[in-house]
Amino acid sequence: MTTDTTTKGATPGAAAPGETVLDARGVTMRFGGLTAVRGVDLTVGAGEIVGLIGPNGAGKTTFFNCLTGLYVPTEGEVRYKGAVLPPKSFKVTAAGIARTFQNIRLFANMTVLENVLVGRHTRTKEGFWSAVLRGPGFHKAENASKERAMELLAFVGLDHKADHLARNLPYGEQRKLEIARALASEPGLLLLDEPTAGMNPQETRATEELVFAIRDMGIAVLVIEHDMRFIFNLCDRVAVLVQGEKLIEGDSATVQGDERVVAAYLGEPFENAPGAEEVAEVEAAEAHAEATAEAAGARAETTNDAAPGKENDR
Ligand SMILES: Nc1ncnc2c1ncn2[C@@H]1O[C@H](COP(=O)(O)OP(=O)(O)OP(=O)(O)O)[C@@H](O)[C@H]1O
Ligand SMILES: [Mg+2]
Repeated sequence: MTTDTTTKGATPGAAAPGETVLDARGVTMRFGGLTAVRGVDLTVGAGEIVGLIGPNGAGKTTFFNCLTGLYVPTEGEVRYKGAVLPPKSFKVTAAGIARTFQNIRLFANMTVLENVLVGRHTRTKEGFWSAVLRGPGFHKAENASKERAMELLAFVGLDHKADHLARNLPYGEQRKLEIARALASEPGLLLLDEPTAGMNPQETRATEELVFAIRDMGIAVLVIEHDMRFIFNLCDRVAVLVQGEKLIEGDSATVQGDERVVAAYLGEPFENAPGAEEVAEVEAAEAHAEATAEAAGARAETTNDAAPGKENDR
């Protein structure tokens, strides 16, 4: 990240069709000797839902942190609607990128409505003195903010719980509240880090519909999830991170059909991941070895008959 180009004054929200909303290039994040993210390129276009998957520890959340100013990447550049992002999370939010967290971060002792209002602070123009003096401008802005917050709560299906304390919501509803709070900053891009973690199948299905509705509002979405059914139903494009590197990116069918992706989820080693030809070669060799072993086993059985008790040595 090089220049500090804030987009103060830019219209938040919907991007023009065909516009590249997010453009991350060569993003690398090192923690001491550990490279958590290595040279990752990723774009998200207007109107797109893009998925980011990969095994535990692959670097997905770290990559999100690099996109949102929580971490300044060791190398690489992140642009939002063409402008290089400032290296501060509140400035990134003001620029138009909002996120939810893998570990829910709500103000537990605030009400549901207050949590959403907190999310609106980057969009309220009223300054410090206006808030302190509580003049007519402040009250007008406050009412408009409340109205918008209630709209967003209705959108995620939580308006009837506006006065409840956040900590009293069941887990699935806390995740929804996080989404409402993120939407309150009127973003053009929403990053969701495991939005269905801990949800039951009905809640997951409802979240899928919610993400489609968010996309239909003109907000591009980048989503991390381990639930493959959710990801492949939802996403126009899916990128796979393995050990910090982008392994493959494509539509759902391409990614689902890639044997390296299957291998990644089965936890096989990944260095120099083999191509289709090499895989076929290995399979043929294994089949041959199996056939040879079977033949040898058949021979051994006849020998073992002559020397009982030998199998105890194994
Ligand atoms: N602040 C940090 N300091 C040091 N190492 C870190 C830090 N944050 C993440 N890591 C390491 O970076 C690697 C990637 O972690 P990350 O949380 O990004 O993975 P993930 O793909 O989100 O995994 P999961 O699916 O379990 O959430 C891990 O080895 C992790 O221990
Ligand atoms: Mg994570």
